[in-house]
Amino acid sequence: MTDTGKRRILVTSALPYINGVKHLGNLAGSMLPADVYARFQRLRGHDVLYICATDEHGTPAELAAQAAGVSVRAYCDEQHEIQKKAGEGFALSYDHFGRSSGEENARLTQHFAHVLEANGLIEERAMKQVYSIDDGRFLPDRYVEGTCPHCEFEKARGDQCDNCGRLLDPVDLIDPYSAVSGSKNVEVRETRHLFLRQSQMQDTIRAWVEASEDWPQLARSIALKWLDEGLRDRAITRDLSWGVPVTSPDGSPREGFENKVFYVWFDAPVEYIGATEEWSKKIGKPDEWRKWWRTDEGADDVEYIQFMGKDNVAFHTVSFPVTIIGSKEPWKLVDQLKAFNWVTWYGGKFSTSNKRGVFMDQALDLLPADYWRWYLIANAPEGSDAAFTWEGFQASINSDLANVLGNFVNRITKYCASKFDGKVPDAGQPDDAEAWIITELETRLPQLVQHYENMDFRKVAAETRAIWAAGNEYLTKAEPWVKYKSSVDDAAVGVRTGLNLAALFGIVAQPIIPEAAKMILDAIGIPEKNRTMNAEGLGDVAGLIDALPHGHAISPPDVLFRKIEDDQVAEWSEAFGGEG
Ligand code: 2FM
Ligand code: ZN
Repeated sequence: MTDTGKRRILVTSALPYINGVKHLGNLAGSMLPADVYARFQRLRGHDVLYICATDEHGTPAELAAQAAGVSVRAYCDEQHEIQKKAGEGFALSYDHFGRSSGEENARLTQHFAHVLEANGLIEERAMKQVYSIDDGRFLPDRYVEGTCPHCEFEKARGDQCDNCGRLLDPVDLIDPYSAVSGSKNVEVRETRHLFLRQSQMQDTIRAWVEASEDWPQLARSIALKWLDEGLRDRAITRDLSWGVPVTSPDGSPREGFENKVFYVWFDAPVEYIGATEEWSKKIGKPDEWRKWWRTDEGADDVEYIQFMGKDNVAFHTVSFPVTIIGSKEPWKLVDQLKAFNWVTWYGGKFSTSNKRGVFMDQALDLLPADYWRWYLIANAPEGSDAAFTWEGFQASINSDLANVLGNFVNRITKYCASKFDGKVPDAGQPDDAEAWIITELETRLPQLVQHYENMDFRKVAAETRAIWAAGNEYLTKAEPWVKYKSSVDDAAVGVRTGLNLAALFGIVAQPIIPEAAKMILDAIGIPEKNRTMNAEGLGDVAGLIDALPHGHAISPPDVLFRKIEDDQVAEWSEAFGGEG
């Protein structure tokens, strides 16, 4: 933290695989909460850098390109644009959305491999791999399929069985065949690969994880479980052509590795750094990224927070830290990891082919981003998996957004327009109802800030809603419409306070529902500089509820939220799956 109290906060969300638009569960488990958190910290006045990228290497990308009949590069170019657009549609406020297939990542990945090898943490070993005689190539990971040795599922992929979920070694598959050609003419051959000697780092990584006592519980418990099982050395190269080439320290192709590339999970996390470098170039300050990543060049005061689904925790708490710490160079390590369980579709898996679940692009065809953002944050899969249901979605939108927030704002702004000429009234003195709402907000606003700092997203949404609900309770107590009949001045206090509350509700809504919040704040005419959630702004509650200049003109916003009707639920259940 600097002298001014301004913190420097680096936020990354797990990099979505390039193949296919992501579903709502992917969004809810990394990108969306990271965005909400980044927006909140910006509103607090901190210096935030939010980085994400597409994870473009690996066999799924190659296989998808092949199925689409295009080159991998062309496939990735197209898919990157689609995902970028979906992110923009959801108002994900990345400072940069990069690409792991960029040159920055390649150079950094090769650099890490060289220093790790110099430090004795990478070594070349012979290993057995499935080779397809008809295809004339090795079949790494998903290039080979066969019967799972654990559960006998017949279409298990080389790296993992989709039926029992176990991680597999391709050579253990029973009756293996090539996923490229279907050929069964395969054999196990010996080939050489680079291994990351994670076992050497067991004690160092454990000491680091154990010292990180303030990590949210899910990330910490998964990390410790992996450490208890013991860190295994892992092959970090593959027999593929699409990926980061394996080089010698002088930059030439490494002998014997001309047809191999780094394994996708070795280069993907390095892209957090690579994408920051891309951002740096984009803003015309090519060295700026170093201030976020090199502790010897200014990153020592950075707070680094990673967001991810639970399946990614081991890679972020063990493998990537082995790369970073093992380099013995002054790179920034993660400070906090926020991990999430799964969002399920009525308790089951999302699936494009079975028409189960909504994907990011489809969602925006149905409703504005804010509706989804609200529901997914209010029902974040934090303590356990969380099932998406249309019924729950409908109830949450209609109650929280349409009734509690939308009605409040509409009611008070319309009333002001009809009875007070659309101007913030000047008359009247605060009384019991105002004293009540002040006390209420004096407790709730600091709690809201604390939930954000703790990254407890369900609590963040619940507290935000409670603040909006307190506004409705205030109006019930203040009753400006009743008072108007006997004393216009008494009604004026209620309308003035109500308008200020509407502005406050828009301000606290910004991280979760930025578009609706903007509509509210524009309608009330709040200048950009006053839309912050900084300590000063939220501190003086009595000032907050009388902050608008008296006489200032407001206009009622258009309808903020439309209720979701039963027939829409029926239609969408039919199209995307639902009960039964
Ligand atoms: O699980 C996934 O979706 C991966 N593409 C996440 C990568 S995160 C990072 F390390 F790059
Ligand atoms: Zn299995």
